[in-house]
Amino acid sequence: MKLRLPGPTEVPEHIALSGSKAMINHRGPEMAELVSSISSDLQTCFETKNEVHILTASGTGGLEAAIVNHISASDEVLVITIGIFGNRFLQLVEMTGAKPTVLKYDFGHAANANDVEKVLKDNSHIKFVVMTHNETSTGTTNNQIADIASIAKSFGCLVIVDAVSSLTAMSVEVDKWGLDVVVSGSQKGWMMAPGLAFISISEEAWDIQKKCTTPRFYFDLLKHKASLANGQTPWTPAVSLFYQLETALKDIKKEGMNNIFARHAFCAEKTRSSIKEMGFDLLADEGYESNSVTAIKAPDDLNVAQLLKVARTKYNTIFAGGQGSLGGKIFRFGHLGYVNENDIDMGLDALKSSLNEIGFRK
Ligand SMILES: Cc1ncc(COP(=O)(O)O)c(C=O)c1O
Repeated sequence: MKLRLPGPTEVPEHIALSGSKAMINHRGPEMAELVSSISSDLQTCFETKNEVHILTASGTGGLEAAIVNHISASDEVLVITIGIFGNRFLQLVEMTGAKPTVLKYDFGHAANANDVEKVLKDNSHIKFVVMTHNETSTGTTNNQIADIASIAKSFGCLVIVDAVSSLTAMSVEVDKWGLDVVVSGSQKGWMMAPGLAFISISEEAWDIQKKCTTPRFYFDLLKHKASLANGQTPWTPAVSLFYQLETALKDIKKEGMNNIFARHAFCAEKTRSSIKEMGFDLLADEGYESNSVTAIKAPDDLNVAQLLKVARTKYNTIFAGGQGSLGGKIFRFGHLGYVNENDIDMGLDALKSSLNEIGFRK
């Protein structure tokens, strides 16, 4: 079965198998070596000198950690949302008791740095900016993130970013852009199974954590910091997934980050141009289309559920539908992680054959 999803993505066999190595003592020297080597490789991928911590949780756990360790009920926060995962971040901020200011864009649009500047000028008490880098639900990338972060920093804000589906598929220059807290998830560009979240934390963010009053325990990052100093995690980690991560990071290093970004850009561009040639429109505004996933508008006479079913049952290919209110209105073609031109060609063939099979003509 070919997974043309924006996660979970396909896992190469040697990475999958590396997860089946013999178990080790999670408090022993082998684990300390493993944790220290993968944490340092993760820093390279995040383009940061900040510590990167590994949580045994899915991406949402990482998002929760990013919020509950920094934002207290009395804080003023700007949440920028361009889709369903931005809305999830908003829910997490609201859970702390904080009453955020929300800058919301319609599906397919990206955030604009001038809008952010205006909100921050008008609301001088805002001290946190929370945003999604790559909005998987709409196939839209917040390409103005560097400008937005720079504006946020000039207003003295801490910048918290969901890079769950962008890291390793496109460049996320954590230090250069001034991103304080950045989250990713293992089942996206990392070529491994779901179950781990990665989170980078700046010095400024660590200081804020000491004053943050929001209750937390499992996701208390200060506990993670204390443990990392001993090459450990505070709670029993998913050791088998750490093995997979170690192997995946070796592959990432070998291919090189710039080559990986170029491969994703090529696969994404090929997908977009072929789909447009087929007569479809994309959901994302031009210039903001994601290199991880392409969201395609479904014409009124296209039955998306039927299309996905035929692709899965007859052409062994799994595409994603739309989430929430986008259900039935779009379908999504994933092109991140362990993917090459041949996979894109096969995905496009499966899409064309499935459309033919259900009698859809543009
Ligand atoms: C941008 C983004 N944020 C957050 C998540 C949530 O991650 P998870 O499903 O691993 O909890 C996802 C997963 O699809 C995502 O794409």
